[in-house]
Parts: sequence; C-alpha cells; structure tokens
Amino acid sequence: MSAPAASPGHAPASPESIATSMPSLLPGAPHFHLRDGELFVEGLRLSDLARMHGTPLFVYSKAAMLDALAAYQRGFAGRRARICYAMKANSSLGVLQVFAQAGCGFDIVSGGELERVLAAGVDGARVIFSGVGKTRAEMRRALEVGIGCFNVESEAELEVLNEVAAAMGKTAPISIRVNPDVDPKTHPYISTGLKGNKFGIAHERTLATYQRAATLPSLKVKGIDCHIGSQITQAEPYLDAMDRMLDLVEAIEAAGIPLQHLDFGGGLGINYNGDTPPQADALWARLFERLDARGFGQREFMIEPGRSLVGNAGVCLTEVLYLKPGEQKNFCIIDAAMNDLPRPAMYEAFHAIVPLAPRAGSGSCYDVVGPVCESGDWIGRDRLLNLRCGDLLAVMSAGAYCMSMASNYNTRGRAAEVLVDGTRSTLIRERESAADQMRGERLVD
Ligand code: LLP
Repeated sequence: MSAPAASPGHAPASPESIATSMPSLLPGAPHFHLRDGELFVEGLRLSDLARMHGTPLFVYSKAAMLDALAAYQRGFAGRRARICYAMKANSSLGVLQVFAQAGCGFDIVSGGELERVLAAGVDGARVIFSGVGKTRAEMRRALEVGIGCFNVESEAELEVLNEVAAAMGKTAPISIRVNPDVDPKTHPYISTGLKGNKFGIAHERTLATYQRAATLPSLKVKGIDCHIGSQITQAEPYLDAMDRMLDLVEAIEAAGIPLQHLDFGGGLGINYNGDTPPQADALWARLFERLDARGFGQREFMIEPGRSLVGNAGVCLTEVLYLKPGEQKNFCIIDAAMNDLPRPAMYEAFHAIVPLAPRAGSGSCYDVVGPVCESGDWIGRDRLLNLRCGDLLAVMSAGAYCMSMASNYNTRGRAAEVLVDGTRSTLIRERESAADQMRGERLVD
C-alpha cells in the first residue's frame, strides 16, 4: 500500500528532516541507537529480536537500567542510603532480578508484588510496603517474611497493623507517609502529595499520629516517608517537600520519638519528548545541600524511584498492520494497543514512535492506533512517518508503567518481554496465550 497524502496542516517530511530528527526521537535512551540505518539496542538489531519473538514485544536494556541506577548511586556516595526500586513501574521478574543483583531494596504496594519480589530471590528485610489499602492478610504475610518497613498511610491503618502484629506476637516496623501538600507540577492523575489526594497523613495530623504510634505496643517507629508525585521534572517541589518534612522531623524528635530513616519517595521524571528533568545525581546534590545545611546529612536515607530507573530502558516493538488514509486523518494501525501501552489513553501521554529502519523519502502524518475497539486506543497522534505495511516500529520510553499496567482487554494476550545484555538476549516473559487468559474460568454445568 502506498503512503497516503499528508493531512492538511502537516508538511511532508524531507529525508533530511527525518534523518536529523532521529536523535531527538530517541529521547534519553543512549543504549538505543542507530547503526547503519537500523535501530539497535546495545549490541543487537531490534528487528532481529522482533522476527525471533514476534510483536508486540517489549525489549529492555540491562545497561540502561544499571546506568540509571548508577546516577542515584553517585548522588548517594558517602551517605547511608537504600535505593528501593518502586516495582510498580515494571514488576517483571527478570527486571526485578537486575535490581536485586545490583543491591537495591524494593518498594511494594500489594501482596502480589511481595510474592513477585520474593520469587526474584529478595529477602523480605530489603522490602518496604507502601499503599493506602493494605489488607490484614497482606500485613500478616509481610510480617511473616520480616518486611523492612511498612509505610503507613492512615490513622486507621496504624491501629489495624498494631492488632495484626500483636496477634502474631510480632512488632511491625513503621514509617508514616506524610502528605506535605506540595504541588509536584505534573499530570493531576499522578500527583500524590496534594491535600486533595488520597495518599499519606495530612501534615497537620502527623505529629499526633506519631505520638499515637509510639504508644502502640506492637509497632516500632523507624522513619518518616513522603512521595509527592510522578514524572516530576523540576527540583523545586522536592526541595519544598523536604523542608516541610524536616520541619516535621524536628517536631517529632522534640516530642521524644527518634526517627532512624528519612524516605523521600520516588517521582523523578524522564525525557519522553524533550523533557529535561534533573539527573538523579544533580538532584541529590541539591537536596543534600539543604539536608546538610539543616544538619540531617548523615541520617539514613531511603528513596523509592520507579520510572527513572526503567522508563527509558525499554521499548515496545510493533508491526504496521494497515495504513488507512482518510479525509481528516490518516491512520497507521499497529499490532500493539492500549492494552499493551495504556499511558496515552490514560494520561494523554507522549511516547516517541520510531521506525526500526527509517526510510528516506517524504513521510505522511498519521495517528498511530491499535486494534482495540475504542477511539481512545491511540498510541501517538499526528506523527510524521514514512511507512509501509509490515514495517516495524519502536514505541520509545516504554520501560515503565506499560507492561506493569497491561491488560487483557479484547482478550488480547499480554506481550512477550526480552532483556538484552550486550549481545545476549533472554526471553524473560513468554507471550500470553488465549489458554493462559482463560485459566481458572469455568463454564456453568
Ligand atoms: N513510591 C510511591 C509511594 C508511589 O506511589 C510511586 C508511584 C513511586 C514510589 C514511584 O514513582 P516514580 O519514581 O515511578 O515516579 N502510572 C503512572 C505513574 C503512577 C505513579 C504512582 N506512584 C504513569 O504511567 O505515569
């Protein structure tokens, strides 16, 4: 099928403009690069992986994950810190293994995540448990495996955790998650530290809650915690939240309750579309200036980064099924959909879309959409691409909050996943079959 004409308002791209715009279409992903006109991940050609495993296919670069982690490690050099990977960003076992082997702790938000992290060989003591709705069963299991800390998010949860721990004859280590009421300047669906959000305990209630916690016999206060949002691209919201949190630490300790660790959550953004978040080491250099100035620089620190460790370490490979020119829009229909890549539909998020073998010649303007029966099933809008049916594309920055939020809508099996390390690739998740999806269902007799 020949490429349709460009839709009004979009000039066709010249070969030069496609070539020169390629580097900027590979946002923040140095381990994904063009070699001899084809897109590679580390030492492997992405199209070879797509042919070997089929599409849609998530491909992750181990080096990219370790590089992202190294920026945090540099930022914490000479400090006492534990980096707890927030596994909700990508909870595939092979990904967890990378961070476990690199010495990370983990931040979890459900019993399911706890079982995954244990299956990846991680000791419960390296895990912290966040989340506003922990069940008694989840608390029991976490206590059974010696969880490192519970980040408690409400006064009611504090009482229940005390009861559960008492019934087991155990003491639950806790932090209280503070809602500092700071605007993280990000998408409203992913800001978590504002007064109107469901997360954490209000700033004004924090001291009283610590005082209550200190009287509960089966709890042991360990630290304080806060998380203000995700895809944060500026340092100021962190500095504001830190100041508010340190004010609280001073008040809590003045009331005779010592805090061993300070947990500043996650939230650092990545470059999706020319975004310029601070690098983790630069951000922490600024935060430590403040911590040192206020005399807290030698405390024990925890952080819970998710997206910034994996987001730009992954892509989703997909095949162009059909090109469908239209009067108002040209559609490029691909074999990946909102069930694989839910972020555009949920947050109108931008992911760069790059052909694996970019072709010279004028392109056209397309809405890149999936096969799911929803108008919201789009992956990219108004993209200038020079395409033919059967071409392979990479949806960039797909390492975080894609596979972990994938669904089976339209009874579409979840994609396969491959982890690349140099010139070695490992299939870390098989493509899900229809039989996998129907497992556990019953017909009525
Ligand atoms: N800690 C807590 C308590 C959190 O709630 C979160 C994310 C994190 C750590 C990790 O934040 P990160 O470093 O990844 O920003 N699905 C959305 C993002 C939701 C984030 C929710 N909480 C998206 O696709 O943009």
